Amino acid sequence: MKILVTGGAGFIGSNFVHYMLEAHPEDRIVNLDLLTYAGNLESLADVEDNPNYSFVKGDICDRSFIMDLFEKERFDIVVNFAAESHVDRCIVDPGIFVRTNVMGTQVLLDAAKEYGVGRYHQVSTDEVYGDLPLERKDLFFTESTPLHTSSPYSASKAGADLLVMAYHRTFGLPVTISRCSNNYGPYQFPEKLIPLMLTRALADEKLPVYGKGENVRDWLHVKDHCVAIDLILCKGRDGEVYNIGGHNERTNLEVVRTILSALDKPESLISFVTDRKGHDLRYAIDPAKIEAELGWKPQYTFDTGIRQTIAWYLENRPWWEHILNGEYSSYFESMYGERMAEK
Ligand code: NAD
Ligand code: DAU
Repeated sequence: MKILVTGGAGFIGSNFVHYMLEAHPEDRIVNLDLLTYAGNLESLADVEDNPNYSFVKGDICDRSFIMDLFEKERFDIVVNFAAESHVDRCIVDPGIFVRTNVMGTQVLLDAAKEYGVGRYHQVSTDEVYGDLPLERKDLFFTESTPLHTSSPYSASKAGADLLVMAYHRTFGLPVTISRCSNNYGPYQFPEKLIPLMLTRALADEKLPVYGKGENVRDWLHVKDHCVAIDLILCKGRDGEVYNIGGHNERTNLEVVRTILSALDKPESLISFVTDRKGHDLRYAIDPAKIEAELGWKPQYTFDTGIRQTIAWYLENRPWWEHILNGEYSSYFESMYGERMAEK
């Protein structure tokens, strides 16, 4: 199988590339990524020379480039991770979210249709369901929960999901969608809650907790997410949505306290700051469908996953220090500059 992974230099995409190269050594992976601020090829340095892996720099919104790539590569499967993914950024600049997340998805769908791709998989999010009240612990998102978005980010992801389903219904494109809860684990950019708090706590810097820290997220280890997508690609039914989450709900304050305690840092580092605009209260996934239909079960609890993640950040300081000091952005030039010039 030849698989196009878009956004493979990002957090989940790079974990997925690693996972697939190991789990399916018979497959070929092409990683297409624009290398925005969130794309980091240092996350894939160990697989650069793997003959089953190649990297292409490019924009999913660039129609002629994408059509040429599909013409040349004839992919069997497309897995679309490429997106603007950080909610705080969409409050500052919604336009790039619509461009990448909606229009980029449409370009990929057109290419998948034109070149007869066997499966187009869209990596979506539980945020398309909006939020749940804090006091109703009995409520969970199922695949039939109505789409009800709060932020330009989640609205753009919901727009993309609707397009994916429209291409299935109208053109018969074989598609699947997964909607997962908050991921955490190795290679997550330190703008998201867990790596931000971890790296700041290590530097004894203040930890900005929005509002009262009461908002709840349902934490999913990125490896469990990768296994779930693999199962959907292998056994998922065309035209279906699968929710992915492992009943690991924590308030933000609980998460931050867990990190501080693991690092032996004082709670006085916590600083309550002005809340995020439109801040979703609680996300919680009901994973019954993927468990029953595809036999998926998460391997990590939050306790085992957060320990592994903290250990990874402690053992891989250069990876995140290069992000904080900006060095990671020159990695593409140093690794690929000469090779591209030679071509
Ligand atoms: P990320 O921000 O870490 O990575 C996104 C990647 O996409 C980056 O490598 C970036 O360079 C690339 N990219 C952005 N614009 C592009 C474009 N126009 N063309 C090609 N590449 C482009 O994101 P992530 O956290 O790894 O999330 C991956 C996907 O999973 C996203 O679609 C996101 O909506 C979804 N998701 C993420 C989470 C989470 O907790 N991180 C949870 C649910 C769903
Ligand atoms: O649920 C899936 C979503 O999870 C994905 O679709 C998004 O791409 C991903 O970014 C994530 O969205 P969140 O907004 O939940 O993640 P974030 O890490 O930004 O924030 C998690 C919670 O922590 C949220 O309630 C806001 C809060 N927070 C976040 C930051 C960055 C803080 O209190 N302080 C912070 O500095």
